[in-house]
Amino acid sequence: MPFNLIRDKGREGRRGYTLPKPDVEMKELESILPKASLREEKPRLAEVDEPTVVRHYTNLSRENEGIDTTFYPLGSCTMKHNPRANEAAAVVPGFAGLHPLQPEAQVQGALRIMHELQGFLSEVSGLPHVSLQPLAGAQGELTSILMVKEFFEDAGDEGRTTVLVPSTAHGTNPATASMAGFKSKEIGLDQHGCVDVDELREMVDETTAALMITNPNTCGVYERNIAEIAEVLHEAGAFLYMDGANMNANMGRMRPAEANVDIMHFNLHKTFSTPHGGGGPGCGAIACSEDLAPFLPDPAVQKEGDEYSFVRPEKSIGRVATFHGNFGQMLRAWNYIRMHGPDLKDVTDMAVLNANYVRAQLGGTYRIPYDELCKHEVVVQPPQGKKALDIAKGLIDYGYHPPTIYFPLVVKEAMLIEPTETESKETLDDFIGTMLELAETSEEDLEEAPTHAPTRRLDETRAARQLKARW
Ligand SMILES: Cc1ncc(COP(=O)(O)O)c(C=O)c1O
Repeated sequence: MPFNLIRDKGREGRRGYTLPKPDVEMKELESILPKASLREEKPRLAEVDEPTVVRHYTNLSRENEGIDTTFYPLGSCTMKHNPRANEAAAVVPGFAGLHPLQPEAQVQGALRIMHELQGFLSEVSGLPHVSLQPLAGAQGELTSILMVKEFFEDAGDEGRTTVLVPSTAHGTNPATASMAGFKSKEIGLDQHGCVDVDELREMVDETTAALMITNPNTCGVYERNIAEIAEVLHEAGAFLYMDGANMNANMGRMRPAEANVDIMHFNLHKTFSTPHGGGGPGCGAIACSEDLAPFLPDPAVQKEGDEYSFVRPEKSIGRVATFHGNFGQMLRAWNYIRMHGPDLKDVTDMAVLNANYVRAQLGGTYRIPYDELCKHEVVVQPPQGKKALDIAKGLIDYGYHPPTIYFPLVVKEAMLIEPTETESKETLDDFIGTMLELAETSEEDLEEAPTHAPTRRLDETRAARQLKARW
């Protein structure tokens, strides 16, 4: 039953729990806590027995779509399976019970994990220095661009006021540029859906601080001119920043440093299989060149002899997170990388193969705007006269989470499909079959969808902005 309220099932005095005896005297607590924090009345909670609570939350969880319940091909967001082995590592009591203020000598194991992860990300990117502190991809972007800003300020170069952003960019890229105090300028695309290098040459000048490039870009297309782009920027004294949210298409096959990228972010919660839900909790680690290393966030982890310790980079921009970042995510990513070792490249190959399989099977029925080999995701358009929104809602009735729609903005009626490497051919075939069936479904029927979901069509913006939380 949708949206059943647990409140309505309660009866006064009914209980489904026993609490352990408090190990602090209430009187003692009352003397420590500020008066304003003490309750004068009991909270108004549902008074229910244990089975009712368990059923209530289990039923609610069934109304939620998730990577553990269904194929979830959300392009640009990489919803890949979160291996249970990662979770086992994250709950090891020696890690889970750590306090961030413990002295370094007591947390050598955790520091070792962080140091090794810095090394792994350095290996994957080819860039020598890493910070694990940013808590999301967007924050990794902001940290990187703040470092670029600090570099120019330190060099006394005050004229670097602009950051260039391709029209395919994720919205967080221009937002990052303006939050860091730059003017963001948009660059168009060539016929392959890649950054237009001629336009770039015209736009780059002594006011350019950086270009933020995503590779592969949000159309799933590899930026084949990336090395030339780096050259254009470097000649003008600017930096090439790479949004590495799509490293699932690069790991073990393309090292950004070899294309002369100066600084980049990773999304550990996408590429390295850590959970990615509800906007976090994430980890948007960054990697950079020697030139930018002095500006990295404080602290980084270093190793001297057999000892691990925190160190403040010489001209650090300071902290970007409380304490040391999201350690649970680091642990999971470390575990994932250790499980794969050099076979990480197989993850990339499989992700790319799966996306191209979907592209090949849907092509002909769905329109493919950039119809050449794609990377880990593919952008398609519904058949003429059909809307991306309707197909997406139709997929819900078949038990699928819809792909990303209406993004990238440069493609009309875009549906951005990212199958990831963790899905089998059978799952992909079922999904493809459903997509082909929906392409044949009448518009009237599609407009009705979803008919089997807990809710029909919502005003999604209003639902997100004016959330009515009930219990
Ligand atoms: C290309 C790209 N850049 C940046 C981000 C931002 O990452 P996060 O959601 O971790 O802030 C995303 C997120 O989906 C993305 O797809």
